[in-house]
Amino acid sequence: MAFRLVVLISGRGSNLDALIAAQAAGLLQAEIVAVISNRPSAKGLMTAQSAGIKTAVIDHTQFEKRAEFDRELAASIDAQAPDLVVLAGFMRVLTAEFVEHYLGRMINIHPSLLPDFPGLHTHRRALEAGREVHGASVHFVSVDVDGGPVVLQTQVPVLPDDDEDSLAARVLKQEHRILPLATHWVATGRLKYAGGKPTLDQAPITQAPIITAEDETLPWNAPKC
Ligand code: GRF
Repeated sequence: MAFRLVVLISGRGSNLDALIAAQAAGLLQAEIVAVISNRPSAKGLMTAQSAGIKTAVIDHTQFEKRAEFDRELAASIDAQAPDLVVLAGFMRVLTAEFVEHYLGRMINIHPSLLPDFPGLHTHRRALEAGREVHGASVHFVSVDVDGGPVVLQTQVPVLPDDDEDSLAARVLKQEHRILPLATHWVATGRLKYAGGKPTLDQAPITQAPIITAEDETLPWNAPKC
């Protein structure tokens, strides 16, 4: 039986697109059974529909309390009986109750080299801090926002004439490689999270593997999106 993914989005959906492309290319052994957005206008909803994937909208503006929204969202997710929930540009802070319900079953892509720059405006902050290297991280979601254990990272150089947009674009290209790869690792049982500790091939992850843009040695090249 296929490994079932539910993907949560809030907007553009390019990471969702990368997951769909990886699945189509046979590089992600899992089925995206539903895409759920908290914003009705999210472009990624159309991407999902074009790929024949079921979509749902749980509009957070219709809820007075964060916990009520989260309960509705959880009900919508659980109706799909997923093996893994993938946050692919899902821009809502989640309640501890929600996170604990999916502990070890939910990953997120964050556009920085965590633990550096959790939260928003990561590219601007990396530029302001004068970083020469920036990147993105995939992590299991824990109750600390962007604070769960990191399982895979990508590094890109910060170039002298970079602005926020050019840096974001360079990072995003690599996000499209690491999110499908980490998802594939979970789907195939290589990557696990139990008792608060992630393992890859049964070895504890003390330092997350890092992929660079030049790294051609990996058995992985994300299809163009
Ligand atoms: C990505 O940079 C992701 O890391 C961040 O939000 C952005 C979403 O982009 N959390 P997209 O919707 O996948 O195109």
